[in-house]
Amino acid sequence: MGAAFVEEACIMTTAPSQITSSDEEAMILAVVRELVVEKVAPRAAEIDATGEFPWDIKELFAENDLLGIPIPAEYGGLGGTFLTYVKVVEEIAKACASSALIVAVQELGMLPIVIGGSEEQKRRFLPKIASGEHLVAYALTEVSSGSDALGSMRTRAEKRGDTYLLNGQKIWITNGSVADVVCVFAVTDPQAGSRGVSAFVLEKGMPGFSVGNVEKKMGIRGSPTVELVFNDCEVPAANRLGEEGEGFKIAMKVLDKSRPGIAAQALGIAAGAFEYATNYAKERVAFGKPIGHHQGVGFMLADMKTEVEAARLLLYEAARRCDQGSSDVTLWSALAKLKCGDVAMSVTTDAVQVLGGFGYSADYPVERMMRDAKITQIYEGTQQIQRLVIARALVGR
Ligand code: CAA
Repeated sequence: MGAAFVEEACIMTTAPSQITSSDEEAMILAVVRELVVEKVAPRAAEIDATGEFPWDIKELFAENDLLGIPIPAEYGGLGGTFLTYVKVVEEIAKACASSALIVAVQELGMLPIVIGGSEEQKRRFLPKIASGEHLVAYALTEVSSGSDALGSMRTRAEKRGDTYLLNGQKIWITNGSVADVVCVFAVTDPQAGSRGVSAFVLEKGMPGFSVGNVEKKMGIRGSPTVELVFNDCEVPAANRLGEEGEGFKIAMKVLDKSRPGIAAQALGIAAGAFEYATNYAKERVAFGKPIGHHQGVGFMLADMKTEVEAARLLLYEAARRCDQGSSDVTLWSALAKLKCGDVAMSVTTDAVQVLGGFGYSADYPVERMMRDAKITQIYEGTQQIQRLVIARALVGR
C-alpha cells in the first residue's frame, strides 16, 4: 500500500448525490465534480502544507460561476437554490476543506448585504462578489465575544455627520486578509442591548482599516484566519446595512443561512474520508484477507456510512427549508450544523483508525481531513451554541 494508492484515491470523489432538484443542479454538480477531480484534489495536500490561500482555485471557482450560486440573477449571481449551493460545498470539501471554504465564506460574507442591504447597496456590492472579482468576509467575533456575540461586543461605531468612526478589533475572521469587502458588526448604542448593534460594509483600503495577527491553525490551513483592526476608520453612512440598531438581527439571520454551508463543508470532509477509508479497506490485506472483510473494520465502515447518510439527509432538509423561507430555519440550520460537524469529527477519526499507522502519516489525506474536521465543531457557533439554539427553539428561554 504505497504512494500509488494515495494518489489514485486522492483524486476520486463519490458520485454527486442522487437527490437533484433540477436538471440545472445536476449540470452544475457534474461540472463541480470534474473540477474537483482534475484541479482541486491534486492541490489539496499542497494547500494544506504551504498554508497559502489558493488563488488559482479561487479563480477556477470564479470562472465557473461558483462564487455567487444563491445570489439572485439580477445582481449577477446564478440565482441557484440553497440546496444546490450546499451540494457544491459538500462536493468540493470531499477533496479540500480549505477550497470549499472559499465558496462557503463568499456566501457568509454576502448574506448581510442580501438580508439587510438596500437596493442601491445590493447593486453596488453583489455583482462583483457574485463574479468573484471581490472576495468578501463576515466580521462578528471579538477577543471576548465568540459565543456571546452580543453581550461582549466592544467594537464601536460612532456617528459623525455622514460617516461612522469605527474603533476596535475583530478576530478569527475567515478570509479577512484576502477579502476586498468585509461586513462588520459594531456597537452604535451601548445602552440599547440587541438594538444597539449596526452592520457596515467596509472596503479594502479604507483609512484606519488594517489586518492584524494571522492565526496559525491546526486545519483549514489554506484559508487565512485573521484579526481586523479599526483605528478611527471612517465608514460612510451609505455603507450601513439596514437601520441603525438592526445589526444584531441581521447577524443572526445570516448565521441561520450560513450554518448549512459549514454543515456542508463538514459533511464533505466526512464523505471524503469515508470513501478513502473504504477503498483502503478493500485493498489492504491483513491475516490473508482485505481488512474490510474483518468484522472489526467492516462494522466501523458500516457505522461511518450510516452517519454520513443521516447527516446528509438532515442537511438537505435544512437547505430545503432555507429555500422555502420556512419559519423554522434557525432550528434546522442548527440541527444540520450540529450533526454534520460531529459526523465530520467521528468519521475522520475512524478513517485514520482504519488506515492505522498510515492514517497518522501526512503522506495520506485522512490526517488532514481529521484536522480540518475539528473546526466545523467550533466556528459559526460551537456545537454547544447549536444545542442552545435548538433547545431554545424547542422550549423557549
Ligand atoms: N433571527 C432573528 N433574530 C434573532 C435570531 C435569529 N436567528 N436569534 C436571535 N435573534 C434576536 C432575538 O430575537 C433578540 O431580539 P430582541 O432583543 O428584539 O428580543 C436578539 O436577537 C438577541 O437574541 P438573544 O437574546 O437570543 O441573544 P443572546 O445574547 O442570548 O445570544 C446566541 C444568542 C444564539 C447565543 C448568539 O449570540 C449566537 O449565535 N452566538 C454564536 C455566535 C456565532 O455563531 N459566531 C460565529 C461567527 S462567524 C464564523 O465563525 C464564520 C467563519 O469563520 C467561517
